[in-house]
Amino acid sequence: MRTVTKDNITDVFMAYLAEDTDPRMREVMGAMVKHLHDFAREVNLTHEEWRTGIAFLEGCAAVETPDRHEFVLASDVLGLSSLVDMLHSSAEATSSSVLGPFHVSGAPALEVGGDMKRHYGGPLLLAEGTIRDTDGNPIAGAELDIWQTAHNGLYASQDEEQDTYSFHGLMTVGEDGRYAFTTVKPVEYTVPSDGPVGDILRACGRHPWRPSHLHYIIKAPGFKTLVTEIFPDDDPYLDHDTVFGVRDDLVMTYVEKPGSDFPDGMAISGQVSDPFLHVEFDVVLACAD
Ligand SMILES: [Fe+2]
Repeated sequence: MRTVTKDNITDVFMAYLAEDTDPRMREVMGAMVKHLHDFAREVNLTHEEWRTGIAFLEGCAAVETPDRHEFVLASDVLGLSSLVDMLHSSAEATSSSVLGPFHVSGAPALEVGGDMKRHYGGPLLLAEGTIRDTDGNPIAGAELDIWQTAHNGLYASQDEEQDTYSFHGLMTVGEDGRYAFTTVKPVEYTVPSDGPVGDILRACGRHPWRPSHLHYIIKAPGFKTLVTEIFPDDDPYLDHDTVFGVRDDLVMTYVEKPGSDFPDGMAISGQVSDPFLHVEFDVVLACAD
């Protein structure tokens, strides 16, 4: 096609695709370009605005490092990450939520009942629950990957005061599907806002806060891997999570209990005298497709 116009350019783009282009590639690329062209036509995008968009992408690339994932953050604050999560979340299973940029591989093994709080400050939290299938049966041998902030709102990778794997743990549950661990209550925190994504948030009059949460990835053979988060129901940012990660079934009550109620069978049993927080959160996994 030689005569390209603002009205036919989308069709011309599609015609340029090779006949043997993978069908899914054709579908995804075609839809993306169609929406991109429609977006430019709809807002009558100016050269200056186009250059601003390109500069944003270049700015993301400039600050991207193995520990700083600005493109993921951009996807998060635009709601794309959560939308993709929800598109593929099973209605019968626990809701998924954003992975975020702070998961690390190689977390140390954490026994059922183990302690992640160690010497770090902040309120003691006992988190426990059962990992089940959609019929309610426990899933023996499920693997639970846990990570969270310390009580200062920082992940280990952001904080020189923490060890490399502080508040990261990998637990394998037994026949009963039960998991349990002690930790510190995580706190709300801001996503990094000193880069191009922060510029977008400020330009839109948005804050960078996330409600506090525990991150879980749960894997078990024969089941869909679940990436999710748990939120306390008293967090001030529950209704305004800057990355859109909150789902109703992920909001739990953290109950304060006297130290005398601390159960046996935990790594720190016998060492708790002060009040502690307790949350029970069962996880339901959907069968793999
Ligand atoms: Fe997080």
